[in-house]
Amino acid sequence: PAVGLRGVSAGVGDSQMLRRCRVQLWDSEEPVPRAELLAGVAGKRGLLCLLSDRIDREVLDAAGPNLKVISTMSVGFDHLALDEIKKRGIRVGYTPDILTDATAELSVALLLSACRRLPEAVEQVKSGGWTTWKPLWMCGYGLSDSTVGIIGLGRIGQAVARRLKPFGVKKFLYTGSRPKPESAAEFEAEFVPFMRLAEESDFIVVTCALTPATQGMCNKEFFSRMKKTAVFVNTSRGAVVNQEDLYNALAQGQIAAAGLDVTTPEPLPTDHPLLSLENCVVLPHIGSATYATRSTMAVLAADNLLAGLRGEPMPHELVL
Ligand code: NDP
Ligand code: DGY
Repeated sequence: PAVGLRGVSAGVGDSQMLRRCRVQLWDSEEPVPRAELLAGVAGKRGLLCLLSDRIDREVLDAAGPNLKVISTMSVGFDHLALDEIKKRGIRVGYTPDILTDATAELSVALLLSACRRLPEAVEQVKSGGWTTWKPLWMCGYGLSDSTVGIIGLGRIGQAVARRLKPFGVKKFLYTGSRPKPESAAEFEAEFVPFMRLAEESDFIVVTCALTPATQGMCNKEFFSRMKKTAVFVNTSRGAVVNQEDLYNALAQGQIAAAGLDVTTPEPLPTDHPLLSLENCVVLPHIGSATYATRSTMAVLAADNLLAGLRGEPMPHELVL
């Protein structure tokens, strides 16, 4: 079968694994130009894509009825037009579980960077702002005895809670579409309404999926309910947050700090107002970026694609 393949040049074996197929490869780490994607996908049976490739009706139309399998090298699938994909009977593979640890680790790193002001402090050392040890200079907020709120206690949300617990967190709160007593038991986490989580948390970590229900939900009202000393972290998708509202909350001191691994758009323009704030740490979507994790993701994405093309069960198929 012919396969439309998005290039993954992370030194991994996916294109080797796909050698038994006729492969059209976009062999670059830069996003495939839309026109090339539309032309390249025509008539293909399978498509391996990244989260930066928007697979919508236009792409599906360009592919035509031969397209049977889409495999994304990501756990997030908000870039896929699932209704349209389902209607056309196309199967979808994705990469859950294997990136949970790496993403949770990065979430903790980002939280600590924001609450203990690490980028700001490093900058002070480099710029000569470090003149002497001063009692209140570069102080931030610690996790000991704190309340942590997790928005979306899924695979990554639980892995974040598991890592934060040993820091001496006093209480975990979580919110989502329904209570999950089995997942929450390990942390004795309490299911609370969204706004109560905002009001009572010292740290808020967003680890939910981007859906119509979560789009823009961290907004002006949400930030205005948060404590002035609270720290907000988002490692899910940028669009869960209203960035203008977040900017205002940070600039006006309504909340203490934020750490973002995901933004809208990506990349965030270098003159974006959020980047002018000392209390906002922005990373370039590196949650799953360890060599081992990215390699495993690429192999899983190739395995999903091959299984789908053979008409076999995929190692990780998204049930539509
Ligand atoms: P899961 O499906 O395990 O978890 C997603 C969670 O989102 C579920 O617990 C779900 O809860 C929750 N959720 C759904 N609707 C809402 C809502 N309205 N309010 C609050 N929570 C809600 O996925 P993962 O943990 O594996 O991944 C989560 C997301 O993280 C991915 O979708 C992706 O966007 C992002 N991600 C980002 C990475 C990065 O590099 N920064 C790396 C990997 C993932 P419920 O079951 O109650 O609906
Ligand atoms: C995902 O997989 O959805 C992440 O955003 C990148 O690993």
